[in-house]
Amino acid sequence: MCGIVAYIGKQTAYDIIIKGLKRLEYRGYDSAGVALHNSKSLNVYKKKGKVADLETFIDDKDISGSIGIGHTRWATHGPPNDINSHPHQSGNKDFALVHNGIIENYAVLKEELTQRGHQFLSDTDTEVLIHLIEEIYTNSKKSLTLFEAVRIALNEVIGAYAIVVINKNNPNELIAARKSSPLVVGIGEGEFFLASDATPMVEFTKNVVYLEDGEIAHLSLETGLKIKTVANQEKTPYIHELEMHLETLEKGGFDHFMLKEIYEQPQSIHDSMRGRLRSSKSMVSLGGIKDYEEKIVQAKRLIFVACGTSWHAGLVGEYLFEDLARIPVEVEYASEFRYRNPIINEDDVVIAISQSGETADTLAAIKMAKEKGATIVGICNVVGSSISRLTDCGSYTHAGPEIGVASTKAFTAQVTVLTLMALMIGKKKGTITNQRFNRLLVELESIPEKLESVLTLDSVIKKIASTYKDSSNALYLGRGINFPVALEGALKLKEISYIHAEGYPAAEMKHGPIALIDEEMPVFVIATQDTSYEKVVSNIQEVKARKGKVIAIITKGDKDVKEIADHYMEIPLTDSLLVPLLATVPFQLLSYHVAVMRECNVDQPRNLAKSVTVE
Ligand code: G6P
Repeated sequence: MCGIVAYIGKQTAYDIIIKGLKRLEYRGYDSAGVALHNSKSLNVYKKKGKVADLETFIDDKDISGSIGIGHTRWATHGPPNDINSHPHQSGNKDFALVHNGIIENYAVLKEELTQRGHQFLSDTDTEVLIHLIEEIYTNSKKSLTLFEAVRIALNEVIGAYAIVVINKNNPNELIAARKSSPLVVGIGEGEFFLASDATPMVEFTKNVVYLEDGEIAHLSLETGLKIKTVANQEKTPYIHELEMHLETLEKGGFDHFMLKEIYEQPQSIHDSMRGRLRSSKSMVSLGGIKDYEEKIVQAKRLIFVACGTSWHAGLVGEYLFEDLARIPVEVEYASEFRYRNPIINEDDVVIAISQSGETADTLAAIKMAKEKGATIVGICNVVGSSISRLTDCGSYTHAGPEIGVASTKAFTAQVTVLTLMALMIGKKKGTITNQRFNRLLVELESIPEKLESVLTLDSVIKKIASTYKDSSNALYLGRGINFPVALEGALKLKEISYIHAEGYPAAEMKHGPIALIDEEMPVFVIATQDTSYEKVVSNIQEVKARKGKVIAIITKGDKDVKEIADHYMEIPLTDSLLVPLLATVPFQLLSYHVAVMRECNVDQPRNLAKSVTVE
């Protein structure tokens, strides 16, 4: 949460920073701000609202200078307003700072600083840090460099941070540090970039350094990039080559990123399987976990830890692994898991699922599991992300950048990778027959093509959306492996259209939600033809008997549900274990159209952020 961009070089810093902030708005959009140095003064502009509001505000201001820092905020301490916006300045206005994370001991520090005469303008934890830096620097009577002052200040800080500091008295340096919040340094020709992820720098450089936890960096055009730990150990920067393409960060003719990402799924699922699956050779191979394959095969238990949509992917994974690999699975909300004193031992394998690879709770959960000796496997989308670097092994989902805050293609890519993993482990364990294994490989390979046909339902789904767009509530029902699909369908609707929606296992409906059903209530049901089909049909009858409206996802050619449902969406027949990969997509489209019809901000729903780096 919160996005940071900074630049030092020869170009106009403002242009790079504003463009970068727009790319990082998925991290929060409560307010935005910049601090720009034009060799004479340090100009700070900040505004409540989106980056576009900041641009309008800055329209007639001085934006010159080739060094600057910028921020887009997801509010934690203090409401979203101009004063609480970043950058924050020191009392003497010599330094400005942008911050992503939470300074947990800010109240104590603030109290002490106040007693020593500091006056604060904002409600934020961030302002406390820049005052602390100022005090350490000033007290040293310039015997310390600003870099050293920041380093010493960070030793007094408890909490999470990615920060960048700019110095009014030296328009030739930026100081950056990270702990539990991401920060990437981009190295160009005579220029440096800093950002919460690599997207703001991709058109300028492919060479990046991912700062590690507890590292502090000094960036200067004269002395280059120097990295130390906060504990004062020199570090040698390790330069990674970015594999990101500019066009993947643009809307490509679609009205919204979310729609583009929904439509990308045949390709992104294909990319998740590329080089890993070949049905003609009976082959599934995930290179990233190969060295730990035996450990997973021998695991007494798998524990999936994740949040949000990724947690739903974990639930699908539970069905896949228990069925195909016969390993007991627990699926945990990362935030609950870590505070429960869970029983973990060395025979456990913890699988962390995360699109961003930065979710604070998931990160903390795997750190804890690692300390207790479990093997940690990652399933992440963002290459080089914190989770991917902390795990023992893992598989990237390769879905490409997902920019819409509501997750779509990342989910189906996670489910694809989980399917490949379960197949690989099941095969190795001998818990799946060769015949079933081969059949599933063929089916999985055909999913992208089948998904193309699901996407042709768009106009049907748009009509359904227009019928139910004014509903206040919605219920989503599914059984077995489609229960998580119901949860995900409900989450998508509430996230972006603000309609209250709940997902339930279809059979549980009669233990509560049935009381809500009346002629106003749309009930979305996954009623595809598999082992629980008959039971789901009965559940649909129960809804109809109470005058509820039923919108069903059915298998092409189905007759029974077609007759009783008010609306239906037909998807191609596939193996029941693979239905989630197809059935999720109509629900994504439905939520999208409802949200557009309700004039909601589809890509940036209120109060949400995509990369949740606070606990
Ligand atoms: C936020 C996002 C969700 C995402 C969840 C977990 O809530 O809005 O789309 O599913 O975080 O994020 P992760 O990056 O760990 O998958």
